[in-house]
Amino acid sequence: MLKVGVLVSGRGSNLQALLEAARDGSLGAEIVLVLSDRAEAQALLRAGDFGVPAEYVAPENFNSKDAYDQALVEKLKARNVELVVLAGYMRLLTSTFLAAFPERVINIHPSLLPAFPGLNAQAQAVEYGVKYSGCTVHFVDERMDGGPIIAQTVVPVKQDDDADSLARRILEEEHRLLPQVVRWIARGKVRVIGRRVLVEE
Ligand code: GAR
Repeated sequence: MLKVGVLVSGRGSNLQALLEAARDGSLGAEIVLVLSDRAEAQALLRAGDFGVPAEYVAPENFNSKDAYDQALVEKLKARNVELVVLAGYMRLLTSTFLAAFPERVINIHPSLLPAFPGLNAQAQAVEYGVKYSGCTVHFVDERMDGGPIIAQTVVPVKQDDDADSLARRILEEEHRLLPQVVRWIARGKVRVIGRRVLVEE
């Protein structure tokens, strides 16, 4: 089974979706390690509930971003992680990290990229006035939210939506999309050709 490591910073509801899919066997992958850059991340507790090793790695203990990422890489490699999932991880990865997992890091983002990258994507969508937003799972490269797109789900924006109500509806779709993409990758169905990602039917 594909060994997956998950990086988190906060609530961990996407991690929870992955943990549940792993437990019921539908993920086709095993979550072997959860790492957080925030001590208070609820995600760490969720991992503990599922008996998955989880660790807070304090950024302030390292004197550069490269050194921090190198430490994360070593922990992931020590558990033979083959795929890294960013599930609400709010830090940009360095090229040191990405070189250790080429085309093997994916991220979930709460908008239809390339619209609304960065923070508060749902508020950006409401403020811009788009009629549709959604979520994107993409490979991670050095650009923020800029790597090749694997899958997207469209979520209509309602007239009375605010950032919170839209975020809640997008989140429901995130919880479906992220495990689905991990399942595809675990089954070897995903190929990257330049910026285009092909998923075998
Ligand atoms: C999710 O909505 C995820 O898409 C977003 O943070 C939230 C994490 O929630 N990620 C980003 O905005 C990355 N740019 P969770 O901790 O409950 O999974």
